[in-house]
Amino acid sequence: MFITSKFKRLANISNKMIKIKNFAGVAPPTEESKVLLECILSLKGEDVLELGTGTGYVAIAASKEGKKVIATDINPKAVETCKINVKLNNINLIILQSDLFKNVRGKFDIIAFNPPISIDKAGSNAIHRVKSFIRSTKLLRTILRYTYSKLNKSILRLIDELFIDAKEHLKENGSILICVINNFEEDIKRISDLNGYNNELMKNFNYGKVYRFTLR
Ligand SMILES: C[S@@+](CC[C@H](N)C(=O)[O-])C[C@H]1O[C@@H](n2cnc3c(N)ncnc32)[C@H](O)[C@@H]1O
Repeated sequence: MFITSKFKRLANISNKMIKIKNFAGVAPPTEESKVLLECILSLKGEDVLELGTGTGYVAIAASKEGKKVIATDINPKAVETCKINVKLNNINLIILQSDLFKNVRGKFDIIAFNPPISIDKAGSNAIHRVKSFIRSTKLLRTILRYTYSKLNKSILRLIDELFIDAKEHLKENGSILICVINNFEEDIKRISDLNGYNNELMKNFNYGKVYRFTLR
């Protein structure tokens, strides 16, 4: 159990101090979590569903700012961590273990998702060194390309499923907010369009953007 200095920095974002503990195996809050939170707070609706809450940072901070939040994650460890953080911050929000909308009931003004994309946003020197080593051999390069294409496909499939199922869970004029990594930007916009959504760029973060999707 730990609170890193990065968490302390992120904890102040919503102007109300929040405490976040994390455990191994749970995605920590990052720069795009903060940007996603800012986008949620900039919209009017109060009923918010956060898919893939991780530590619960976004959900907890939005709840502290007056939103009515349901937080979900597919990972049971994330659900447990989020429960601990909710208690720590002395707030009230519903936390569900769910694969996207599987265990979710009801309609929302805002559905927010920072999807699990980690390979291409990794920026540390160590990771760059490992990547350049991998690229230096033909076999490993082929494996890397194969892994990327599988990863891309599975993420795009997940987002496609989200756009389809969200139609049952969006209130009239409701919005979907997604952190979109630059590599996936055109594909995600195309998938949203095929599913009948308009897209609007809301905010940038260093390797991507938060987009708002609304039904046409
Ligand atoms: C990049 S992390 C974001 C964590 C948190 N929202 C944040 O911004 O700090 C992605 C999260 O999505 C969760 N996740 C992945 N696939 C999911 C799915 N099909 N349904 C719900 N959550 C999922 C992961 O377990 C992980 O906690």
